[in-house]
Amino acid sequence: MSEPQLNIVHEGMMWPSLVHSEESLTYAREEFQARDEDVFIITYPKSGTTWMQEIVPLVYSSGDPTPVQTIPNWQRVPWLEQKSGKELLENRPSPRLITTHLIYRLMPKSFYTSKAKVVYVTRNPKDALVSSFHYHNMASFLENPGTFDEFIDKFLEGKVMFGSWFDHIKSWWPLKDQDNFLFLTYEEMIQDLQGALVKLGEFLGKQLSGDAVEAIANQSKFDNMKQNKMSNYSFVPEELMDHKKTNFLRKGIAGDWKNHFTTAQTEHFNSVYTQKMKGLNFPFYKD
Ligand code: A3P
Repeated sequence: MSEPQLNIVHEGMMWPSLVHSEESLTYAREEFQARDEDVFIITYPKSGTTWMQEIVPLVYSSGDPTPVQTIPNWQRVPWLEQKSGKELLENRPSPRLITTHLIYRLMPKSFYTSKAKVVYVTRNPKDALVSSFHYHNMASFLENPGTFDEFIDKFLEGKVMFGSWFDHIKSWWPLKDQDNFLFLTYEEMIQDLQGALVKLGEFLGKQLSGDAVEAIANQSKFDNMKQNKMSNYSFVPEELMDHKKTNFLRKGIAGDWKNHFTTAQTEHFNSVYTQKMKGLNFPFYKD
C-alpha cells in the first residue's frame, strides 16, 4: 500500500483507512442514535483504550471474566466511528458499551442531548507519543513514523492519526464536572487500580463487592491482558500487526518517555505543551 492510501482525511484529520471511511465517520456523526443508557469510553489513541475495554465489561459482569475471555474487545466494546460500528451497534440492546477516539465536536449529533455516560481516559502525552511511535512501527496499516525526532514534531503539530492530543483534551476537559462524565488518568490507574475501579463502579451505578474489585483488577492486570487472546490483538494477521517487532500490549508503564526523550526533546515538548495548554487549567503533565 502506498502511503497516501493508508489514511483518509476527514474534517482535517487523518484516519487509518483500513477501518475508517467517509461513510463510517459520517454515520457516526449524522445517523448514530445515542441512548441515555449508552456508556462511551473516550480516549486519544494510546492512552489506555484497550485497558478500559477490558475493565468496563468486567464491571458490568461484576468481575466474571467470561465476557472478556470469550468476546474480542472490538466486539464487546465496538468502535463507533469504524466501518463495523453501524452493524455492531445499531441493534445492540442497552446498555451499549462503545469506544471512540472522536473529539467532542465530531461526536454523534444525538449524543449532545442524551444522558449517555462518558468514561474519559487520558495519559501523559509523552507516553502516548512513545506508545504510538512503537505502534506505527509494528502496524503496516499506519504510515511510517520517521525518526523519533520527526514523530515528535508530527505529534506536536497534530499531523498524526485522529489529530492533535491538545485538541482532544481541550475538547473534553470542559465536561469534567458533569454528572455523566468520569475523568480518569492512565497514571492513576497504574498507581491505584482498585481505587479507580471503585470510582468507576460508583459512576456506572454498579455495586462492586471487595471481591469483585479484586477480580477485575486481577483480570485487567497488564500481564493477564497480555495473555488474553481476546484482548491482545494476536488474532490480527502478522502482515497487519507484527508482534515480533513489538507487542500491541507493549510495556504498560507510566513514564517510559524518559527512556526515549533527550533533554532537548523534553524541553521542546514542554515548551509547546505550556503554550498550547495555556488557559485550560489542566493540572497534569506539565513536566
Ligand atoms: P505502551 O505502548 O506504553 O505499553 P490504547 O489501548 O489506547 O491503544 O493504548 C495502548 C497502551 O496502553 C499501550 O501502552 C498498552 O501497553 C497500554 N495498556 C493496555 N492495557 C494495559 C494494562 N492492563 N495495564 C497497563 N497498560 C496497558
